[in-house]
Amino acid sequence: MYYPEELVEEIRTKNDIVGVIGSYVSLKKRGSNHWGCCPFHNEKTPSFAVSENKQMYHCFGCGVSGNVYTFLMQYENYTFPEAVKALAERAGVNLPEVEYSEEEKRRANRRARLLEVNKEAAKFFYYQLRSPHGEKGMQYLQKRELTPETIHKFGLGYAGMNGTTLVEYLRSKGFEDALIRDAGLATYSERRGLSSQFWNRVMYPIQDINHRVIGFGGRVMGDGEPKYLNSPETDIFDKRRNLYGLNFARTARSGNLILCEGYMDVIAMHQAGFTQAVASLGTAFTSEQAVLLRRYTDNVLLAYDSDGAGVKAALRGIGILREAGLSGKVINMKPYKDPDEFIKNLGKEAFQERIDQAENSFFFEIRILAEQYQMQDPEQKTHFHREIAKKLCGFSEEVERENYLQAIAEKYLISVDNLRKLVKSYAATAGEVQPIERPRSGIVSKQSPEENVKRAQRLLITWLVDEPGLYHKIKKYISPEDFTDELYAKAADKLFAGLDQPGFQPASIISMFEDPEEQKQVGELFQTTLPEMDSKQEREQAFHDILMAVKRNSYEYYNEKAGADITALQKVVAGKKDLENLAKTHISLD
Ligand code: CTP
Ligand code: MN
Repeated sequence: MYYPEELVEEIRTKNDIVGVIGSYVSLKKRGSNHWGCCPFHNEKTPSFAVSENKQMYHCFGCGVSGNVYTFLMQYENYTFPEAVKALAERAGVNLPEVEYSEEEKRRANRRARLLEVNKEAAKFFYYQLRSPHGEKGMQYLQKRELTPETIHKFGLGYAGMNGTTLVEYLRSKGFEDALIRDAGLATYSERRGLSSQFWNRVMYPIQDINHRVIGFGGRVMGDGEPKYLNSPETDIFDKRRNLYGLNFARTARSGNLILCEGYMDVIAMHQAGFTQAVASLGTAFTSEQAVLLRRYTDNVLLAYDSDGAGVKAALRGIGILREAGLSGKVINMKPYKDPDEFIKNLGKEAFQERIDQAENSFFFEIRILAEQYQMQDPEQKTHFHREIAKKLCGFSEEVERENYLQAIAEKYLISVDNLRKLVKSYAATAGEVQPIERPRSGIVSKQSPEENVKRAQRLLITWLVDEPGLYHKIKKYISPEDFTDELYAKAADKLFAGLDQPGFQPASIISMFEDPEEQKQVGELFQTTLPEMDSKQEREQAFHDILMAVKRNSYEYYNEKAGADITALQKVVAGKKDLENLAKTHISLD
């Protein structure tokens, strides 16, 4: 935990969820809940419920749920500590200063100064662009069809012909020469002294996700080399871990992020309404950036240039996304070179169509592969089929591999049986099918026994959250260990401890988990929809069944695990007894 649990809980209780969510979503009270249109999916009739009692929200349409922290994390795309900070501020709670060492203080101070000098430089470029000196830059941007709003939104600027005005300006603001140099804004030479790194260029400030300027890209107006000049890496500018445009894209709520190659592509896409576009920073896409993207989406679309270099970069990008567990798709830009040109020529509706038609990354890889072979030549064709088989071995999951196998066989007119044989023989020679991490599909078979067991565990927890009074009737039968799913066990442990306290709010449990994915799952755990039941008898039967299912599974689970372990065996025997007692017991829901 970044902050003590009690403090996190204090801040949560001081931020009434109805008030917080009400400032984002218009809510109306009906029954015990406040209702509004869900901000996390498109809908016209409200199915998003905020409960004042539970201090939780739940959408009956898309299933999201959680407490006041997870709401801000989902809506604002905050990290947990960011959400804590925001809500502490809102409630006027002081957060403790973390104790820093001298060295850490010095480093933090230096980073702060670098950010300040960049901010000041960005301001300078911004005003230059709007001054008579900046006319040439403004004309260039207008020629590229950027609107004043777009130029403003991205804070675009202009570095003039004179190499010393920036330096003089920064000095007048109290920045020392060494800092100006270290920020990559100026270089020193014997002959000219300190002079600006950027001149005669339009300037693109590069911002981190909190809109702070961490570096610049400068483009020549027209032809000239180099086309872009970028700030060097500094203590605040890590090109591997930042993405251009992510400060806006992270709140786009489009269900995907679009990764492209250039600054201009990002800007053109945002101007056309595709505010989910981001680009790497004049360097190749990295695995760190993939992890960054994963914080916001599972679904990344590549909008790389349609030329040879772009295709190569896309193939590389697909691999990196896959390793990060993200599923990638490729947007076809043809006949244009890049998104900027595409949108200029065919407009945003056509681009949206290309987004909708984006190609599955595996199909893309195979299609590019196919271009390397002459299929009239049987030998080349055989090579092609072998390469496909090899690639199919990359799918460790049988069902998925088979699905791709069938699709590819159909597409390239290969016999399914033959291709399957080929894959088997490769799998055999390679030892076994390569285990690679698969994208999270989000689809779990509702029928699998594990899923049924998990569902029973979820239902039981939801039921206890809804009717905390029941806990005392069943606590002698059930313990957190009966929840064989690790996360559920953790949540049950906290829930049961809480249910023994007066005035306990289950919403507090969610923020005891740090990982957003865990928070999400725990949130859902409290909101599983209970089956519709009319009579009390039906409800009692259902509750009994759920309890039995959880208990039986737990018994089987420990029985299998126990082996010769005496204490484990004792637990199993006790569990068996509980199970038998429970089977005979009537638990009233009154
Ligand atoms: N780039 C760079 N240095 C260069 C050329 C390119 O750093 N000399 C980087 C920039 O980040 C650029 C990206 O590579 O945005 C893609 O290059 P390109 O497609 O040429 O740039 P665009 O953004 O399309 O720029 P424009 O449309 O202005 O030509
Ligand atoms: Mn371009």
